[in-house]
Amino acid sequence: MSSPRTIRVDLAGRAYDIAIGPGLIDRAGELSRPLLAAPRVTIVSDDTVAPLYGARLAAAFEKAGVGTQTVTVPAGESSKDFASFGRLMNGLLDLRPDRKTTLVALGGGVVGDLTGFAAAVLLRGVDFIQVPTTLLAQVDSSVGGKTGINTRHGKNLVGAFYQPRLVLADTAVLDTLPRRELLAGYAEVAKYGLIDDPDFFAWCEKNGEAVLAGDAAARTYAIEQSCLSKARIVAADERETTDLRALLNLGHTFGHALEAETGFGGALLHGEAVGAGMAMAFDLSARLGLCPAADAERVRRHLGAVGLPVRLRTIGGDNSRTWNAARLIEHMRGDKKAEGGKLTFVLARGIGKSFVTRDVDEAGLRGLLDDAIAA
Ligand code: NAD
Ligand code: GLY
Repeated sequence: MSSPRTIRVDLAGRAYDIAIGPGLIDRAGELSRPLLAAPRVTIVSDDTVAPLYGARLAAAFEKAGVGTQTVTVPAGESSKDFASFGRLMNGLLDLRPDRKTTLVALGGGVVGDLTGFAAAVLLRGVDFIQVPTTLLAQVDSSVGGKTGINTRHGKNLVGAFYQPRLVLADTAVLDTLPRRELLAGYAEVAKYGLIDDPDFFAWCEKNGEAVLAGDAAARTYAIEQSCLSKARIVAADERETTDLRALLNLGHTFGHALEAETGFGGALLHGEAVGAGMAMAFDLSARLGLCPAADAERVRRHLGAVGLPVRLRTIGGDNSRTWNAARLIEHMRGDKKAEGGKLTFVLARGIGKSFVTRDVDEAGLRGLLDDAIAA
């Protein structure tokens, strides 16, 4: 059988491939068998994805002579809390794993982050493979080794950098993903263009609707370009020790504040928050005279045109929500990217010209938030 399209994440001693294409779930055994320390895997999934794809994935491993067991967690962000993580660890230990057992994360970013962190600490570390099933997970969270869980102090504050051995992005599974989840993932796709690839953003403007409507070629291209960008950035700055990987946080300082205010739940999905946050980051850049106003307008127009909520009054589907600039700024201070009380932002000198700054005038920020709340 032909080899799928692969992108290498080039990390010394821990390099791995991202395989992209339709039907890869059915080839998971054949593609991962050479990487397994022993022919046994434990699949971790959620109770929405497991009924859709769990049996097919298990059959693909069994066909390649790999024994499988499956553990399922409830779908949704709440599975990333401490109590759920404890239940998962005990569930995994009940299955008597050994250090040669490989965990396989079958699901979106929640399952990927949770399983990756479980793999990092189970028996002091076992291998894991990502089989991402949301667009967000295929273009962002399954690549790069950020794993973790949430605490009452905030999201992803306990975790580890722990790289998978392989990422299998089966593009066909996106056909069952609800449009709202697709859109949330699409914000992360457009992000790569806005960070440093203006041609890709222009491609998104032309082809974004096709990606969302299920055009297979457009979808595959969007995932490949996103993974190429992410792999390049992660290989150069795996642990975010320079400001390079921090560019992947474009839109996140604003987005995190919006998510915190809406309770990190279904009212505002992470990708939706990133989309609104990117529009605000470009607006702030234009307001500070860093970026042409026309570029900020282009960003807002495209994200709004595909259906992402870019105006605060449309966020959370609740027009009566009262936003407050001071409270949003307080949430930004609690963000793990804030350093010594200084807010960190990714701003831009134009589309594809992003940079990190810890030097944003708070009056300008306050003015932007007040205007966004009034708009
Ligand atoms: P998710 O994992 O909650 O998945 C969204 C919903 O879609 C869930 O209900 C899930 O059951 C369902 N689903 C998944 N695949 C499906 C499919 N193919 N068909 C039908 N339904 C499907 O959410 P997400 O947006 O994938 O991930 C969000 C999480 O990712 C957050 O916790 C965020 O912090 C994390 N994240 C991590 C990184 C990283 O670098 N590690 C980057 C971005 C986001
Ligand atoms: N999603 C941000 C990062 O992986 O660094």
